[in-house]
Amino acid sequence: SLYQTTASAPVNIACIKYWGKRDTTLILPTNSSLSVTLSQDNLRSTTTSRSDSSFTKTRLWLNGVEEEIKPNGRLDRCLAELRKMRKENVEDKNPNAPKLNTWNLHIASYNNFPTAAGLASSASGFAALTASVAALYGLNSFPSSPSTSYSPPATASQLSLIARQGSGSACRSLFGGFVAWEMGNNPDGKDSLAVQVAPESHWPSLHALICVVNSGKKGTSSTAGMQNTVLTSSLLQHRIKDVVPSRMSAITQAILSKDFDSFAKITMQDSNQFHAVALDTFPPIFYMNDVSRAIIAIITELNRVSVEETGHLVAAYTFDAGPNAVIYTEAEHIKTIIQLLLNYFPIDFAAAPFHDSFALFEGGHPKAAPIPKGFNENVSRVWEKDSVKGLIHTKIGDGPRVLGEE
Ligand code: DP6
Repeated sequence: SLYQTTASAPVNIACIKYWGKRDTTLILPTNSSLSVTLSQDNLRSTTTSRSDSSFTKTRLWLNGVEEEIKPNGRLDRCLAELRKMRKENVEDKNPNAPKLNTWNLHIASYNNFPTAAGLASSASGFAALTASVAALYGLNSFPSSPSTSYSPPATASQLSLIARQGSGSACRSLFGGFVAWEMGNNPDGKDSLAVQVAPESHWPSLHALICVVNSGKKGTSSTAGMQNTVLTSSLLQHRIKDVVPSRMSAITQAILSKDFDSFAKITMQDSNQFHAVALDTFPPIFYMNDVSRAIIAIITELNRVSVEETGHLVAAYTFDAGPNAVIYTEAEHIKTIIQLLLNYFPIDFAAAPFHDSFALFEGGHPKAAPIPKGFNENVSRVWEKDSVKGLIHTKIGDGPRVLGEE
């Protein structure tokens, strides 16, 4: 007999960055973090899981290519946790339930965004896997489509404990909207879980513009990089103790009151400090390049002009473990920002990924507009042939969806 489910899960981009583990096996962080879940309409991982009493071993395919499952590796440990949950929550309670926990699995996962987009897929990937197998095992009730009345299932935080053991940031992709990963204190990690700070419906005008700077594979992996930071950076100790706790409460307040100025300032400061901590690692780690720094200068200048005119910030940049920028802004400013970036980076839209914003432009074709009055256009010049290779305009989105069950 065959059981099969398919689930999808979103990408999340942190405003308060997770960087550093206190336990590398259980994946327990040295600080709490907070992220925004991006819409699955543009970016998602989709995972189909099958369980059959006749499968002779558990197998995994990523984008159609079979991967080796290392015994006691991250995936193996996630599956062991899900099996345990199936046994305790379903099979021990109902003797008639099929013993799926003892059967092997076939798991196939796809990302709808090209690997060439240079976006991390481990967060959405492990979240989709967890949601898919959990649904197969009858452990959760994620909806099949987004809805405004939707609230996350009670099991989502419980499942975040499992996704966390696949990749730390994956635990935050179990929820839509604004999500905190509370670091916890217990050595067993049972209190290191994701909670929703506010649903996606809370602030729908918050949009994200991803600037794809480099599509290649990143130099230092997050896993290796952050471990070296823990071992060598004294700035990280200051960040963990003196900075992140107050930022977590301040950005939570900013989100709850939809205070874009505070949200943006904290987001930019935390990205800056994360990259300072990377630089403070020995040997140092550089994730941003000249194009990344050019984007920082452009957004900083745009904010300077805007504060002068209106008293308010309009955009916030943030960078993960690579040179791509994510710009958070409110919907009304998206067009201005795209037009401004096009003065600096001539993007080939025929080749580049781009979403949602075509309708903003005449003929559906984004074009640069003259640099606004009072804007110092010399804030940023990139002399290399390196450039922004594409833009992905997306919104805040919902948590995992269970798309099909048999
Ligand atoms: C810079 O979650 O990819 O994106 O737990 O080792 O799998 P592992 O690391 P990962 O690290 C993400 C780091 C970050 C910041 C963040 O997402 O909070």
